[in-house]
Amino acid sequence: MSEPVLSHVPRRDASGVPRHVAIIMDGNGRWAKARGLPRVAGHREGAKAVRRTIQAAIDHGVQYLTLFAFSSENWQRPADEVADLTFLMKHYLRNELAELHEKGVKLLVIGERERFGDTLSKELDAAERKTANNAKLTLVMAISYGGRAEIVAAARRAMLAGMAPEELTEQSFSGFLSTSGLPDPDLLIRTSGEQRVSNFLLWQIAYAEILFTSGLWPDFGGAEFAAALENYASRERRFGARPV
Ligand code: FPP
Repeated sequence: MSEPVLSHVPRRDASGVPRHVAIIMDGNGRWAKARGLPRVAGHREGAKAVRRTIQAAIDHGVQYLTLFAFSSENWQRPADEVADLTFLMKHYLRNELAELHEKGVKLLVIGERERFGDTLSKELDAAERKTANNAKLTLVMAISYGGRAEIVAAARRAMLAGMAPEELTEQSFSGFLSTSGLPDPDLLIRTSGEQRVSNFLLWQIAYAEILFTSGLWPDFGGAEFAAALENYASRERRFGARPV
């Protein structure tokens, strides 16, 4: 019997390079604490690691990079830390957008951007519009994002669109998610030694290879990204089928 073709399920690229890498950037707080610094210092260094990682993704020919910058649960952190993270994201966008655009990066934002207020929300809208035709790398920023909330929102959209139960398939349902049109991640990385998926891309990581690395996010860069890709290349992906 021939193998069923599920077009939304990722296939390994012949080059061994993952098409889509998703990252849970963890460990900023511990990085700062180890140095006797305030947590915001860890987040600031984390923003520098974001910059290095985007460059590494471009250099390796990765086409999609999704970064978990703020979870829907992060609102439970003290107000000053939320304010610091909001400030950093705004600052990052203002400082980096021109260069990202020049490099051919297309920005997409998933999650409830409105919760960060009008200014950041509108700047993100504008950044998405400005970079919409870029094709080198699609950078997906997940902010105020939660996987379960996303799935519930998609179910609501499907119902509002009048989908009949028999029309609802894995493929059609994917089209109602905020990641509609994007391939599923091939590789999910979480830094800092924590081994959880923390409500990140729950639907989309069904067949992702998962890599937990021990380093803290602010120390992440080109070498760590290359090592992760090497690890990925050594894995055998079967998607539930028998090895070939
Ligand atoms: C997890 O570390 C990291 C976050 C909650 C935020 C991620 C934010 C950045 C990388 C910087 C800003 C982002 C952009 C896009 C410019 P943690 O604080 O949970 O660390 P801990 O587990 O060691 O306390």
